[in-house]
Amino acid sequence: MIKFLNLKKINKPFEATFQEKLKHFFEEGWYILGNEVTKFEENFAQYCGLKYCVGVGNGLDAITLTLKAYIALGKLQKGDEVIVPSNTYIATILAILQADLVPVLVEPKLETFNINPHLIEEKITPRTKVILPVHLYGQLCEMENIEAIAKKYNLIIIEDSAQYHGAFSQFSQSYLSHTKTFSFYPGKNLGALGDAGAVVTNDLKLYETIKMLRNYGSQVKYENEIIGVNSRLDELQASFLNIKLPYLDKENNNRREIAKRYLSEIKNKNLQLPFCNDIQKHVFHLFVIRTENRINLQKYLYENGIETMIHYPIAPHKQKAMTFLNHLSFPISEKIHNEVLSLPLNSSLTDEELNFIIKILNRF
Ligand SMILES: Cc1ncc(COP(=O)(O)O)c(C=O)c1O
Repeated sequence: MIKFLNLKKINKPFEATFQEKLKHFFEEGWYILGNEVTKFEENFAQYCGLKYCVGVGNGLDAITLTLKAYIALGKLQKGDEVIVPSNTYIATILAILQADLVPVLVEPKLETFNINPHLIEEKITPRTKVILPVHLYGQLCEMENIEAIAKKYNLIIIEDSAQYHGAFSQFSQSYLSHTKTFSFYPGKNLGALGDAGAVVTNDLKLYETIKMLRNYGSQVKYENEIIGVNSRLDELQASFLNIKLPYLDKENNNRREIAKRYLSEIKNKNLQLPFCNDIQKHVFHLFVIRTENRINLQKYLYENGIETMIHYPIAPHKQKAMTFLNHLSFPISEKIHNEVLSLPLNSSLTDEELNFIIKILNRF
């Protein structure tokens, strides 16, 4: 069986170095917010081409704490509206709710799966304060259009970059938006050995506030300035991420090479391949195709020894938990959630496996 994701194989090359670090870890005996976290924060900020990074417990908290920090700084108030794509992973919407803000969903473009900037303005009200684009599946959103709207209405931009590690580093300086949130969930392009996340920003006050929020609202031990949480990047996860970060560009390039082969060699007219106009701006966290015949395709691939996944089977507004959104209709999102299928794409795939997947897909 060709696994959708073989984490054992992906992390194997880093094992020996990590074992070495583990030895130091036991020798030093410093477990929380130590040198590895500080080092990762410095390394990752620099990698992103931004000034500050604060490591947190996971990608959900990265978004939640960013929103809460803006509230603590007086730039947002409870009940303010946040523009967010209707086609995202549920975490983006949960973060908005956890910060006592109101998610306002906007349809994506069918081709890119990402928020349609042309539909944003009609959703803006006097309470709109934030646009929260999500670079879904590793494809950059139309940031120039989004930034133009943000500028016009004086809105904050927070980029949910949980699926977008890497590519922005070449051009992020041109952005007005300088706050990006990350997840290092094990399956991500830069994945830890457990939960981990970070916020990267050029905003010093925001950075200092999130640093307090993640640590009980405290800067000085046992002095609490704001209401915080416990969501610190774990020292061991940080040490693993420090080992992996230098290889992220290589990982993304490998992914692009696989994606290029899928894009040029899958010729089956029944399958809609993902749109990509600039491969350098795509990190192919996922390679997502569409077909109205998804159930049969997934079954056929499985029977041929190819494991696939669905990201995601139910649109956020249709989730049972989102009762207040259930009455809304987002036909494009619903179509996407009904038709998408993610093919195996990661650096552990061999050429033979790739040849086989392409051959089998072309026979469907
Ligand atoms: C787009 C998006 N946002 C946020 C998250 C949340 O990250 P985490 O699982 O680390 O909390 C994820 C994680 O899968 C994600 O894909």
